[in-house]
Amino acid sequence: MNVLLINGSPHKHGCTYTALSEVAGRLEEHGIAANIVHIGAKAIRGCIACGRCQATGLCVFDDDPVNECIGLLKQADGFIVGSPVYYAAPNGGLCAFLDRLFFMKSAPYAYKPAAAVVSCRRGGASAAFDRLNKYFTISCMPVVSSQYWNSVHGNTPEEVRQDAEGLQIMRTLADNMAWLLKCIDVAKGSVPYPVREPWTPTNFIR
Ligand SMILES: Cc1cc2nc3c(=O)[nH]c(=O)nc-3n(C[C@H](O)[C@H](O)[C@H](O)COP(=O)(O)O)c2cc1C
Repeated sequence: MNVLLINGSPHKHGCTYTALSEVAGRLEEHGIAANIVHIGAKAIRGCIACGRCQATGLCVFDDDPVNECIGLLKQADGFIVGSPVYYAAPNGGLCAFLDRLFFMKSAPYAYKPAAAVVSCRRGGASAAFDRLNKYFTISCMPVVSSQYWNSVHGNTPEEVRQDAEGLQIMRTLADNMAWLLKCIDVAKGSVPYPVREPWTPTNFIR
């Protein structure tokens, strides 16, 4: 079993990475491989709504990690997205990344347990956390919870390491993710996946 963890900060080894590393370490204690992928600090294009991905399953823009991560997420059993809090929201580059990772490509992600993790200096964690969870709850991905909303506090990795409760929340999240992944694994072959009804888009037109 493996979990894909996206570090959505421009800082490769910053606060978000520190939180994700705590999750990854505990997942590995449960025998689950944890792969942290950094989105990098280069520009990430937003979705241009061209719809080409509907035919190809990939984004037309191939100069950032989005297409690679589509493949990694299809192969993963679980998914965790981490972001620094920017103005009470996830990092804009990460939102661009996730829009293109999910738009018209999310069917193979269904039933993979997922969670969001955010890092902030002081405030806005809940709003950023809620925004990230929207990707999962529109994609039939079970959301894994912890003992509190998944945030750490700090402006530097050293400060995050002083947030004992925040790191405990990360470890509990990993425990809960591991437990759910193992439950799903046991159920394979005996409990069928839900059968989806055909989509009935109404677009608010009467
Ligand atoms: C553009 C920008 C906006 C930010 N907005 C907030 C904010 O709204 N609330 C907050 O507590 N911290 C804010 N911060 C601080 C970061 O969220 C915080 O330092 C975070 O832990 C950094 O994570 P990283 O090291 O993984 O990048 C902001 C930082 C930047 C660069």
